[in-house]
Amino acid sequence: MPMGETVYLNGAFTPRKEALISPLDRGFLFSHAAYEVTAIYGGKLIDFDGHLSRLGNTLEAISIPNPHDPAGWTDIHTQLISRNQLSEGLIYLEVSAGTYDSRDFAGPEIFTPTIFLFADHRPLINDVAEHGIKAIFLNDIRWRRRDIKTTQLLSQALAYRSAREAGAKTAFMVEDGYVTEAASANTWIVTEDDRIITRNLSSDILPGITRGHVIARLRERGLPVEERPFTPDDAYAAKEIFTTSAGAMIAPVIQLEDRPVGDGKPGPVTRQVQRLYYEAIGADVATAAPWALA
Ligand code: PDD
Repeated sequence: MPMGETVYLNGAFTPRKEALISPLDRGFLFSHAAYEVTAIYGGKLIDFDGHLSRLGNTLEAISIPNPHDPAGWTDIHTQLISRNQLSEGLIYLEVSAGTYDSRDFAGPEIFTPTIFLFADHRPLINDVAEHGIKAIFLNDIRWRRRDIKTTQLLSQALAYRSAREAGAKTAFMVEDGYVTEAASANTWIVTEDDRIITRNLSSDILPGITRGHVIARLRERGLPVEERPFTPDDAYAAKEIFTTSAGAMIAPVIQLEDRPVGDGKPGPVTRQVQRLYYEAIGADVATAAPWALA
């Protein structure tokens, strides 16, 4: 999908091709960096407070001073949206621990961060949301701090490669017999007896901002969500499965490995969650997602 031509790097808006970062940056050498991905719909930031709050937690956990207060971050995002005329898509934000003159594991006492943001034009209420995707299971081989959003993404990159090789779009990662989350999304199942389940928060998974938003919308309507682990067998037995993330919002999963989920089509609970979320972000559902009304 087309990346916006204007990016933000260390205090300046600049043409993407002129934005350069040193190879000695700690983000490059050690993956010592936090990131966030915020959805933009109708030119507006979605769930932005949640993303900023999680960014603050990640930065604190990896000893990087937060370079901006919420007003500062909002200003950079808003300018990036308008300079790139972004109406639907994502803003990617990365804050690394900065560049120094040596490859020193510990680094200086106080880091001077590198700050980089770009705009990404892409439909978020899209074909995947309408038709669903296939997922495979993989062992979760990630580190122990999955609750913070760092750029240590090698295992997820490899998971996407394995999924692609298997003709799937994502992977559900499994640890100690339970599904943790998908390669870049939280996972949800709807059981035979209509219980809506998503894994409870802990250091095993990312506290997804979209996940939190969906739980709130469902609870408002008296639809309780059970936050607890579930197994691959629970997933095979589920009537419906979907994932939540800023990047794909609500994505139905219609096939797991070689087995259809339910009748192999996005189900009514998934459609209801899509409707609730799309309405909450200000979408005109009848136009943008008529299939979610069926
Ligand atoms: N990923 N779990 C993982 C491992 C993720 O990478 C993501 C998001 C989520 C969902 O979080 P949220 O609802 O806050 O987007 C859960 C982003 C979109 C990415 O890496 O591109």
